[in-house]
Amino acid sequence: MIKKCLFPAAGYGTRFLPVTKAMPKEMLPILTKPLIQYGVEEAVEAGMDTMAIITGRGKRAIEDHFDISYELESQIKGTSKEPLLNEIRSLIDRCTFTYTRQKTMKGLGDAIYKGEALIGAEPFAVVLADDLCINEDGDGILSQMIKLYKRYRCSIVAIMEVDKDQTHKYGVIDGKEIEDGIYMISNMIEKPDPKEAPTNLAIIGRYILTPEIFKVIKNTKPGKNSELQITDALMNLAKKGMVLAYKFKGRRFDCGSVDGYVEATNYLYNLKGEKL
Ligand code: G1P
Repeated sequence: MIKKCLFPAAGYGTRFLPVTKAMPKEMLPILTKPLIQYGVEEAVEAGMDTMAIITGRGKRAIEDHFDISYELESQIKGTSKEPLLNEIRSLIDRCTFTYTRQKTMKGLGDAIYKGEALIGAEPFAVVLADDLCINEDGDGILSQMIKLYKRYRCSIVAIMEVDKDQTHKYGVIDGKEIEDGIYMISNMIEKPDPKEAPTNLAIIGRYILTPEIFKVIKNTKPGKNSELQITDALMNLAKKGMVLAYKFKGRRFDCGSVDGYVEATNYLYNLKGEKL
C-alpha cells in the first residue's frame, strides 16, 4: 500500500570530516554495508519497492552502489566472493531507485519538499539513514509504522524517550496517549532547550507522511536555524487533522555521531560478526 520511501541524503556530514570530504556520509560502512543500505533493507522489509533519494553534489557513490558493476561482477563470477554481492543484488532487482538533487541546504522540510516530483500524490515513508534502527525481536521500525498507518491513515512520526538534557538534539512532541505508546500530537518543537521541552519524547528519523504534507511544507516558514523544518510542517498539519507519534519497538543508533556509529558497529558485530 505504501510503496515509496524517501531518503534525504544531501547533507554534508560535517561531524565525520575529513572522511566525508569526498564520500557521502550515507556510504559510511557499518561492518560491510553502507548506512543507507540498512535503510533500504528496512523499507523493503516493510513492503516498499521505490526508493526516492534526495541527493546533492558529491553523492554519486550512492547511485553507483544501487546499480550493477559489470566489471567487478564479471571478475568475481564463479568465485567464493560472488555471494558477497547477493544482498545488494537482490535489492537492485526488487527496487526502483529515483533521484533528485537538493541544490541548496535549506533544511529537512525543504529536502522532503524536493521529493514531491518523485513521490506524487500518495502516502510515503521517510528514512533518515543516520538513524540506524534495529529490532532483533520482530518487525522492523517501518513495518511497525505501516501497520499503524493501516489503522489510522494519517501521518506518523517515530519517537523514543531521551534524557531530558538531550532535547536540543531532536524534534520533541507532546500529546495525549491514546493507546499504549501511541500519542495524538498536540505540540511539536524542533530542538528545544531542555527548559522549553514539553516532554522527553524525541522524534527519530522514521516518518510516514500523507501527500498533504507537500502543500503544508510550502506554507511553512523557516524555523530553527532559519531552516525549513519538517517538525514545524507536521505541527501545522496536526492543527488541521491527526498526526500520531509512535514509540517504536527496537533500538536506534545515532550514526550521525561518532559515538553512535561506533556503538552500532559493535552491536552489529556482536550480532553478526562471526557470519561475515
Ligand atoms: C532531524 C529532525 C529532528 C529529528 C532528528 C532525528 O534532525 O530535524 O526533528 O529529531 O532528525 O534524528 P537532524 O538530526 O537531521 O539535525
